[in-house]
Amino acid sequence: MSEIKVLFVTSEIAPLIKTGGLADVSGALPAALRAIDVDVRVLIPGYPQVMAQMGPNEVVASFTGIPGFPSSRLLFSIMKSGVPLLVLDCPELYQREGGPYADPVTGHDWVDNPLRFGLLCRIAAILGSDESPLSWHPDLVHGNDWQTGLTGVYLSVAAGAVPNIITIHNLAFQGNFRPKKVELLHLPPESYHINGIELYGNMSFLKAGLYYAWHITTVSPNYAREIQGDELGFGLQGLLRARSDDITGILNGIDTDEWNPETDKHLPSHFSAARMTGKAQNKQALQTRMSLNVDADVPLLAVVSRLTHQKGLDLLLEIAPQLVELPVQLVILGSGEAFMQESARDLALRYPGKVAVMIGFDEALSHQIEAGADMFVMPSRFEPCGLNQFYSQRYGTPPIVHNTGGLADSVVDCTAETLNDGTASGFVFSGMTTDNLYAAIVRAVGLYQDQRKWRVLRRNCMSKDFSWETSARAYRKVYLNVLGRTE
Ligand code: ADP
Ligand code: GLC
Repeated sequence: MSEIKVLFVTSEIAPLIKTGGLADVSGALPAALRAIDVDVRVLIPGYPQVMAQMGPNEVVASFTGIPGFPSSRLLFSIMKSGVPLLVLDCPELYQREGGPYADPVTGHDWVDNPLRFGLLCRIAAILGSDESPLSWHPDLVHGNDWQTGLTGVYLSVAAGAVPNIITIHNLAFQGNFRPKKVELLHLPPESYHINGIELYGNMSFLKAGLYYAWHITTVSPNYAREIQGDELGFGLQGLLRARSDDITGILNGIDTDEWNPETDKHLPSHFSAARMTGKAQNKQALQTRMSLNVDADVPLLAVVSRLTHQKGLDLLLEIAPQLVELPVQLVILGSGEAFMQESARDLALRYPGKVAVMIGFDEALSHQIEAGADMFVMPSRFEPCGLNQFYSQRYGTPPIVHNTGGLADSVVDCTAETLNDGTASGFVFSGMTTDNLYAAIVRAVGLYQDQRKWRVLRRNCMSKDFSWETSARAYRKVYLNVLGRTE
């Protein structure tokens, strides 16, 4: 196999900085690619969380006098996974308390986000062109989501530019700003055009990414189709339809070391498909920790999620009073929109011992919930891929999911037939209504009462292979195609 050198650009990476699935993907995919002869290096902003945790590092480049941007440096370090990391250190833009995108006090996006992620794109383009001060030169730059969207624009006017591709993890986040940013970010003025970075009177980082990339990937085959339609195209369906031949859907994998019920460091007890007693112990520990009634027999239904419109949890909160009557216990870990946090908290107060809610972001608890719950629910309105349905299956916690995006590609609805042929791995409902969600949960609870069938379903789930290997090979193939190389 010929080696390919790839600069992977991302705005979050597990375990250093995470707000969602992009971090999980950025933490695992580069390592999987390195295992198949792709020399990937990751470029990421030097947020405080990254600077503090990246370990030994050295300065490998300094950038001064880039028009429109403050001075910055590149620090080189190696992740525990073995993946080389290029950290973009620019204290003025990244060294501040809070999340990577928003001010935790006001809840609003950082006002200088165009500059913060503009610099990330500008540096990515420098590293992918003759201007690069590094001795390591990528063959291709691979960006992710809107935060990396301007890379292709800067590359389009750089000498010796290599090809670039972009992966869409979520089309709903677009990075759209007033047109005056074009000048502030020193973008070529002619790029502000319908055939370019203009989108409904704004300049759009994501549109730029989709327009200038040589190839576009997204995180499931089903979502690759959905975003070309009016319902889930978020205003970009026209461009995506026009580029249909340049779009590839590649289902995400999961980090099978980080998410392994036999070794998971966050769990009080370990288990496997062959030895399931540990799962019952995790359920008991979770019920105790979350002040739920300790009861081995009542089905425990779980949520770990951003609490946003996308995730459809408003539907679940609405039917929670009927669910506790089934009976079902409910555990929710999440944070997001204030009204959803409030209504979740209210439910916990109304149904002590039956509904438990933790508002916040807690990695360890998310593992304990996957392990301790009996079933997991994801009623997402749209879901580019979703990761928790994989974690749930691996932890013997059948997921109940809406028939959309990557959920549809990765969960096989349980019917008499799929249970018999060994493919069933959860419950899929179509039509985003409370009745349909409720009916799917009732189906799951019904099967749970039949312990023999439930064991079959759990075993199916746990025997599936969600490792990154197959997906990494698919990305490698995209790289080769873009570079016009065969093996
Ligand atoms: P998205 O990226 O849209 O949020 P994904 O399902 O792809 O959705 O990934 C979400 C990731 O973030 C999963 O690893 C999930 O466990 C994690 N996660 C979400 N909310 C929380 C939370 N409150 N605490 C801990 N982990 C969370
Ligand atoms: C996004 C999507 C999610 C996907 C993740 C990683 O955040 O909302 O569905 O799993 O990116 O690709």
